[in-house]
Amino acid sequence: PYLVPNRNQSICYPSKHSSNTGYFPTRKPTSSMAEIDVAVQLLLKLKTDYKHLTGQDYKAGCPPPENVVNQDNGAATDGIDEEDNVDPWNVSTSNAKGVDYDKLIVRFGSSKIETELVDRIEKVTGQKPHRFLRRGIFFSHRDMHQVLDAYEKNKSFYLYTGRGPSSEAMHVGHLIPFIFTKWLQDVFDIPLVIQLTDDEKYLWKDLAIEECHRFAVENAKDIIACGFDVNKTFIFSDFDYMGSSPEFYRNVVKIQKHVTYNQVKGIFGFTDSDCIGKISFPAIQAAPSFSNSFPQIFGGRKDVQCLIPCAIDQDPYFRMTRDVAPRIGYPKPALLHSSFFPALQGAQTKMSASDANSSIFLTDTPKQIKNKINKHAFSGGKDTIEEHRKFGGNPDVDVSFMYLTFFLDDDEQLEKIKQDYSSGALLTGELKKILIETLQPMIAQHQERRKQVTEETVKQFMTPRPLNFKL
Ligand code: TYM
Repeated sequence: PYLVPNRNQSICYPSKHSSNTGYFPTRKPTSSMAEIDVAVQLLLKLKTDYKHLTGQDYKAGCPPPENVVNQDNGAATDGIDEEDNVDPWNVSTSNAKGVDYDKLIVRFGSSKIETELVDRIEKVTGQKPHRFLRRGIFFSHRDMHQVLDAYEKNKSFYLYTGRGPSSEAMHVGHLIPFIFTKWLQDVFDIPLVIQLTDDEKYLWKDLAIEECHRFAVENAKDIIACGFDVNKTFIFSDFDYMGSSPEFYRNVVKIQKHVTYNQVKGIFGFTDSDCIGKISFPAIQAAPSFSNSFPQIFGGRKDVQCLIPCAIDQDPYFRMTRDVAPRIGYPKPALLHSSFFPALQGAQTKMSASDANSSIFLTDTPKQIKNKINKHAFSGGKDTIEEHRKFGGNPDVDVSFMYLTFFLDDDEQLEKIKQDYSSGALLTGELKKILIETLQPMIAQHQERRKQVTEETVKQFMTPRPLNFKL
């Protein structure tokens, strides 16, 4: 497993292939802060073990029920603690219910988004929490309480998220962080920067620079179609912005100076045959976390707190960023992590653009959506109608039900669907029909909004300029 960095040590993340199988650093902690980190990790591990054994979240002061049933939800592991594979390039697990996010929190050393935090966001913003928060789809964070503490004292913050433009069409999974970021921008009324890493895709894929840049502009149209406020949002291509902003490049180089090859090897698993562009790229994804990378927006201030919403696959970049930040005199960015929108074939992997049959694209027609769901969406239903009526379906592994948890806003309707499916009253075909009827208009509306995005609008969003906000 990845080890959790000690705040007072330079980072030392063994790669996932490391022979260390424990949760604790092999190096002896040298400070009390390091000891606290280890203790926190131990408590988190005990909490996840408790959930694993009892199937319930641990609550202080509530002893476990007497007849505890082991709720192991995975494919049979015969006692072997199988590890989910989650990094910026791969997401996979052998568990039909998907990645074990509680374990991931322990491995990555982040914090769970507890009900208390969701309630606090509601109190601070005065808005009903987004369904992604209500349903635990955004499940993990780093320092969100600190962001709210400061916000309550009228100290604002900015949002940073991004997209690696590897193809012209984005899929529905890519929308998750953007839909949520749009909600955060609205309820907190704050500026947002969106990085399009066309350089990253050039380095990783067999694509020409011009193609990657074109994909960045095309993807920007889909992102703009999510409804971002042009007066509060700056979208940039790395190829364009790096050349036009000395302040951004200076931050990139500062970060590069403070991270060793050994460290990025440990975090990202780079090997000796990876090109040096890949090895230095993480500094480019880290730099927008620091406000003085955008002097046109923040007037040279380096102390504006950054909050990054993303799926948890991007966390390795920001573990590195958070380790570097205090050493170069900047605040650590805070994070909100989402779980993965699963592939049509099942939650063992995330929806990925490289497999057309695993994904519903934002360019799909109503007919394609219907066919993909009917043909490929993994079902938790029984083999025959008789069996299904008798034993019911399993919504926990059913991809159509999982998709509805992301996109059906009505909590009561969702709960009724869950109960009806579990009891057998609702058949797989009927569940799929509900999903098709939810996704078809949603994607059609997205396509309509995208059509309205002109080249002029894209240019406006992508021009470095002051934004309209009060810090
Ligand atoms: P990329 O293009 O792989 O993904 C863009 C965003 O979508 C998230 N994501 C998903 N979320 C839920 N379910 C899925 N199946 C799914 N697939 C992808 C990603 O976590 C990401 O938030 N290197 C980045 C681009 C980037 C970035 C950033 C992302 C640059 N700066 C800052 C987040 C925050 C990339 O290639 O993302």
